Amino acid sequence: MCGIVGAIAERNVSAILIEGLKRLEYRGYDSAGVAIYSQDGGLRRSRRIGKVAALEQALAEEPLAGRLGIAHTRWATHGVPSEANAHPHFSGSDLAVVHNGIIENHEQLREQLKALGYVFSSETDTETIVHLLHHKLQGLPELADALKAAVKELHGAYGLAVISAAQPDRILAARSGSPLVIGLGLGENFLASDPLALRQVTDRFVYLEEGDIAEIRQASLQIWDAEGRSVQRETVQFHEGAEAAEKGEYRHFMLKEIHEQPKVVQRTLEGRLGSDHALVQAFGPQAAELFARVRNVQIVACGTSYHAGMVARYWLEELTGIPCQVEVASEFRYRKVAVQPDSLFVTISQSGETADTLAALRNAKSAGYLASLAICNVGTSSLVRESDLTLLTQAGPEIGVASTKAFTTQLVGLLLLTLSLGRVRGTLATDVEAKLVEALRHLPGNLEEALAMDKTVERISVLFADKHHTLFLGRGAQYPVAMEGALKLKEISYIHAEAYPAGELKHGPLALVDSNMPVVTVAPNNELLEKLKSNLQEVRARGGELIVFADRTAAMDNGPGVHVVNMPPIHDLLAPILYTIPLQLLSYHVAVLKGTDVDQPRNLAKSVTVE
Ligand code: F6R
Repeated sequence: MCGIVGAIAERNVSAILIEGLKRLEYRGYDSAGVAIYSQDGGLRRSRRIGKVAALEQALAEEPLAGRLGIAHTRWATHGVPSEANAHPHFSGSDLAVVHNGIIENHEQLREQLKALGYVFSSETDTETIVHLLHHKLQGLPELADALKAAVKELHGAYGLAVISAAQPDRILAARSGSPLVIGLGLGENFLASDPLALRQVTDRFVYLEEGDIAEIRQASLQIWDAEGRSVQRETVQFHEGAEAAEKGEYRHFMLKEIHEQPKVVQRTLEGRLGSDHALVQAFGPQAAELFARVRNVQIVACGTSYHAGMVARYWLEELTGIPCQVEVASEFRYRKVAVQPDSLFVTISQSGETADTLAALRNAKSAGYLASLAICNVGTSSLVRESDLTLLTQAGPEIGVASTKAFTTQLVGLLLLTLSLGRVRGTLATDVEAKLVEALRHLPGNLEEALAMDKTVERISVLFADKHHTLFLGRGAQYPVAMEGALKLKEISYIHAEAYPAGELKHGPLALVDSNMPVVTVAPNNELLEKLKSNLQEVRARGGELIVFADRTAAMDNGPGVHVVNMPPIHDLLAPILYTIPLQLLSYHVAVLKGTDVDQPRNLAKSVTVE
């Protein structure tokens, strides 16, 4: 999704802006641009379709230098990816704006502004902001005053940054629905939609809150809240290594993040397990009192996070007896829901900024839920700030667009939730809990073992390189794991992949199976294994090639058209976490073989902050 970077300094900011944009590349985008003010040349810009490297090349050929600038990566929503639609947008030659989000009333504003004589040079909603601001400046010459007046007329979501040749000692910023953070330097200050963009220049950040407007100067910062009151926002110091944004020895961020899983799962467990039980306080001081009242759980999320919720349903109902519903946020938010009494509303999100999940949470607030809980990877995100309870996963920044370590840490968080609810409600036997806690302690080691199968999985990936369709099968809690495996494969290798509960095969999808359709299955050694084996016979009988990730104690043999990959034994309830690893590796290797852009697959964005 779109990214914003801004800088005001004593030095030339051009390289800082480009480096910031590169660090935001992981979010997905289709064009990039920069506007820089210099005393001799005024406000000038450069924009390019495609990668930031193309913009960098343009700047090498025709440099822009100055001590004030804003930059942007755009992911097209209103208007095709083109140079004319790329940000920054200008009004006249003196005023430039970059914007993330969507202005819903842009058509109406466009008509009003046209009637005032403004000429539009793009199809974007953003251009209405810059002309509106220009118009406001006629009566309110201070940039901050004009911006305060302009945002009152904007409906929708925005994180935006403004610079003006008439007031070249400041950047103005406004946030409503799209995150913005100010980076504090020494005698220089910065702005970005994600602190990752600024980690090379500072480790001190001030997050803007909803409705805030900020005036950022070289040596000062002023913030007004939605009511126009001057406010101080807390400065947050980052301690985490700036190297999180580097690939290190790995060829892709996705591979690095797959291999980080033992470490980040360990971190997610840290401080949350007692000797033989999960610590309910990990969910916040009011958790124990609230959990004691929970009689129903509603989970809402999108994409991979939704799949984590689907796994959790099996855990919650089996271990706590509490009924659980799981729904994708884009559906839930527009539905009239019948809320069960004493329902806990749980959202799951890596970014905590996914528009549909946030909207669902906001709707839920007035729908009669007992309380809201966010399981999220970003502590400063809107989802976390707007939820009653939080459990932060400790996956660290996830750069690859395809979610990997976020998913497994979400599963860990959801299992901790299950244990905590079961404990507080008295529905979970203490010996069952103790065994699971013990198994959780071994989980990072189990994940290491699964990662050690990388070469085997790489060899198997060759079977997929020339295929156009695949089927993923699972039973029980492995069904959502199969769904996640199919999502990974389709998003990064562009091979059509579908997931089915194995028992559904004969009710339709079996008609598709032939030698051109590999079938991937996850088969832990549990009470569903025998049933799964007969489903696999159904596939073999139709000539389908089988790839089975099976517990090595399950006695499944290789044979013609059957490729068995042996997995280490694991507590059955933890199997969904373990079996996710080979499926991630499989998608990764197939994508590498196909030569796709693994970290930034086509048409996708990391953080979906618009509907
Ligand atoms: C898939 C993927 C997406 C996200 C989804 C929700 O690999 O990354 O499906 O899981 O967009 O994002 P978050 O978890 O940030 O709410």
